[in-house]
Amino acid sequence: MKNRKQIASLYHKIYGQSRQTELALAQLFEMMDHAFVMRKADLKNMDNTNTDWYFNQKMVGMTLYVDLFAGSLKKLAKRVDYFRDLGITYLHLMPLLKPRDGENDGGYAVEDYRQIDSRLGDMPDFIKLLDTFRKNDIFICIDYVVNHVAKEHQWAQSALDGDVLMQEMFIMYDTDEIPNRFNKTVPEVLPDKCPGNFTFYPEIKKYVFTSFSNFQWDLNFANPQVFNGMIDNMLYLANLGVNMIRLDAIPFMWKQVGTTCRNLEPIHDLMRMFYLIKEDVCPSLALLGEAIVEPDEIVKYFGTDHQPECEIMYNANLMVDIYHSFASRDVRLLTIDTNRFLIPRKGTWMNYVRCHDDIGWGFNEDAIRQFGFDPFQHKQFLIKFYGSEFEGSFSKGEHYQYNPLNKDARTNGTLASLLGLQRAVERKEHFRQREAIDRVNLAHAVIMTYRGFPLIYSGDEIATLNDQSYKKDPAKSTEGRWVHRPIFDWKRSFKKDVCGTFEHDVYQNLKKLIELRKNLPYLHGQASQYALDLNNAHVFCLIRQVKEKTFFALFNFSEHTQFVTTYHLRQVLFGNKYKDLIQGRTFDLSEPSFDLSPYEYVWCVHQ
Ligand code: GLC
Repeated sequence: MKNRKQIASLYHKIYGQSRQTELALAQLFEMMDHAFVMRKADLKNMDNTNTDWYFNQKMVGMTLYVDLFAGSLKKLAKRVDYFRDLGITYLHLMPLLKPRDGENDGGYAVEDYRQIDSRLGDMPDFIKLLDTFRKNDIFICIDYVVNHVAKEHQWAQSALDGDVLMQEMFIMYDTDEIPNRFNKTVPEVLPDKCPGNFTFYPEIKKYVFTSFSNFQWDLNFANPQVFNGMIDNMLYLANLGVNMIRLDAIPFMWKQVGTTCRNLEPIHDLMRMFYLIKEDVCPSLALLGEAIVEPDEIVKYFGTDHQPECEIMYNANLMVDIYHSFASRDVRLLTIDTNRFLIPRKGTWMNYVRCHDDIGWGFNEDAIRQFGFDPFQHKQFLIKFYGSEFEGSFSKGEHYQYNPLNKDARTNGTLASLLGLQRAVERKEHFRQREAIDRVNLAHAVIMTYRGFPLIYSGDEIATLNDQSYKKDPAKSTEGRWVHRPIFDWKRSFKKDVCGTFEHDVYQNLKKLIELRKNLPYLHGQASQYALDLNNAHVFCLIRQVKEKTFFALFNFSEHTQFVTTYHLRQVLFGNKYKDLIQGRTFDLSEPSFDLSPYEYVWCVHQ
């Protein structure tokens, strides 16, 4: 347990020096010892041999809801062949710990961290499933909701019963004076659904901090008992045999009056301790941080080379830049952002184009200004373009959490609907359908090439469209994000093998990319990357390098053929003859230019 000294020093930094802190610290170390002893031999074996598995280019992930995809954990275990066929080697299973009954934010309101949601199965089912997937070389990630618990969680229930110690696990006040002060500076997460940041509970006559909704109580990480309790849960989950833990909503974990209560400095100390603790007890477990905030804040959660925090972070910036590039047909933002951040050695991005959440339009405002656009207007453009309000847009997304005061909104919708398939199908425009499929394929190709870990959102591999059926379910009807969380359509999925269907075109394309990726060392998570400006605003160029061998990829984000001059490529590449692995095209860089078809992409290696 080599990290104890560092853990102790961070613990004292946060919780001060007192007898109470010493007792809590001793309790934490005991928990760690216990978890270490309880850890099974096969997991310890992995701890000793394979701690940086997430860098491997063979890792290709998928996120899914167990119930929507398969019905239950038992049934999911029987679907291994589906993942193997596509080449998936990692699954993020959406919340599966026991949530509260009724509305539960898609499982992000957890009542018990040690029990499985009974609708999905039980703990033995889960352990069996982990075993099945391990045997099939599929790694598993689960959600760990750290910022808040359901109001039905035992801590909250005892707090509601008047237990003062349990009330200290949360952030609550007797009067609205401090809540009002908070509300002056803390933005609302869900202004539509849940205005304000506090909920008044008459039974205890207290105002409780509830960032997300009245049934999700924010934890008080300024109390060491909260920290210890949540670490204990994390180590318990790690010892079940999961390979990655998704730390949900980390930017919210520290509160201070007069601030936005987002990304506050102590959260980095907490994250650093999470990392050091798991390194001591279960180092093959990887920590995935979910922080959908400004790009400059997201990268901070990687920590530094000497002080790592989360090993993997969602690359929300890349996701927004991809949609921006499709809407504006302009890749300059993507190019600038790709070269913008250096991330620490232990860190890598989780690259995705769609997930279960809405899309928030946060981008690099300085770069947008540099191109001569106004950030506010540009955001309005993206909101309207993807919210189906912009004339000429191909997209069929939906507004989410529209705020009439500042006109801000986020967007819901599936990848295929956002990128034009739904509109083209409704209008029976065959040519536009082809274009939409090409966009979907291009988006997948970007995340397969980009430095990091690609993550596909279940259903996108068969071009799933928006689904309005959630409106009939009272537990879902008020939550627009369900439009892109439909029940997986197995009947439609069979079309993946029928030539000439959307399902076939998207699935087979993705399968081919995955197969290719796995054999390309250039796409290893530690192979270097930079974006090359080709002086063509429509074509994104990504260069990946490993041991002086170079690979380049080009992506045409426009619906028109583009001529690419070879000049810029010649300046940085070794040799002139390159071969494209996607379609077998050959490129001679001694020629002055070549063309790329609408939405074409190429993956080129030196011949
Ligand atoms: C994360 C989840 C989101 C959830 C929120 C609150 O952002 O991705 O779905 O609503 O946290 O737990």
